Amino acid sequence: MAFNKKTIRDVPLDGQRVLMRADYNVPLEKNGQIADDYRIMQSLSTINHLLDRGCQIVICAHLGRPKGRVDERFSLEPIAVRLGELLNKPVGFVPDCVGDRVAQATKRLQPGQVLLLENVRFHPEEEANDPVFAQQIAKSVGAAYFVQDGFGVVHRAHASTAAITQYLPSVSGLLLEKEVTTITEAMENPKRPLVAILGGAKVSDKIKIIQRFAELADKLIIGGAMANTFLKYKGLSIGKSVHEDDQDAVLDQIYTIALQKTQGHSSVDDFIILPSDVVVAKSLDEGAPHHSARVTDVAADEYILDLGFQTTNEMVAALQGAGTVIWNGTLGLAEQAAYAQTSSRIAQALANQPETMSLIGGGDTVDFILDWVKHHTGSFSHISTGGGASLELMTGDKLPGIEALLDK
Ligand code: 3PG
Repeated sequence: MAFNKKTIRDVPLDGQRVLMRADYNVPLEKNGQIADDYRIMQSLSTINHLLDRGCQIVICAHLGRPKGRVDERFSLEPIAVRLGELLNKPVGFVPDCVGDRVAQATKRLQPGQVLLLENVRFHPEEEANDPVFAQQIAKSVGAAYFVQDGFGVVHRAHASTAAITQYLPSVSGLLLEKEVTTITEAMENPKRPLVAILGGAKVSDKIKIIQRFAELADKLIIGGAMANTFLKYKGLSIGKSVHEDDQDAVLDQIYTIALQKTQGHSSVDDFIILPSDVVVAKSLDEGAPHHSARVTDVAADEYILDLGFQTTNEMVAALQGAGTVIWNGTLGLAEQAAYAQTSSRIAQALANQPETMSLIGGGDTVDFILDWVKHHTGSFSHISTGGGASLELMTGDKLPGIEALLDK
């Protein structure tokens, strides 16, 4: 699929000052340290391209949800330090993203220097997509171009993703281009068979994507707490497990699509694969005793917390021979090691299938996979930096931060 927006390769930005939007919304440890720098690493290709072209680079970004006021826990200063280590050059930091301090610091910038501005979400105008605020940022920075490279945030119409494009000629960075091209290609022209694995907590968060995959995929694997809602819909008792009661109409629609699609080919239950066994416990506490059970045997006082061994075997088998696997949502309560077994086995199976195009998206899934790859061998074709953005792109939605860029 051709990316129809101008990128940094299409404009004469040599030697220019550019304002780049990155997504540095990285996971933090309890002590405030960066838990994972994947998003920072992924921004390097654009930064290095701009450095090669002698640009002065001013980066703006957000971290967390500080509710429009200064909150030191969400300062980007540690990100400037980490970015400097990765680039092997000092990265300046300005403790605001707008105003005199920004203007002074940017005026002193030389070609090949990089400056990171403080969290744009310390100002309420950011999330309000305030045009005056966006204009002030553009003016303070004095940039010739705006480069959007924060794929993870382009589903938000904020001042630094949408309004800013009214004041600067705006083009895509290389990460944004790669994310959009890879995800769109996998959705529009997948190497088949296409297997979709959907997990996470809520059907209601993912209605559109489940429907899209019911139409598109050759197999749809459902796990995580979302599977509980499917099991209950099918009349099974799920004890005290997390689920949603008001999704029957949505599931009716999904099964209608699935029925139309599978008629004469295979049974709906071979197309939408639900758990046949699960891991249950009487308490959500870490370390609580747990055991496997058939889905027909979950007791009234039990929680379903992972998929069972048999189910995982079936799912791993369903992945074999897949041309494309798109995975969004962990398959059990993966933040507790005891219930990360299915997600881990699926990760291992995919990592062992380099011939399969494997695309991982979604905040929790990506955090899980990034941690998993630290302790295992094997790799995936594409680990998206986007959570909500990758989901919305997969459903076919228009994303405001992309729409606002110059057309090719
Ligand atoms: C993300 O982490 O998904 C992006 O950075 C967007 O963050 P938000 O959901 O707080 O807008």
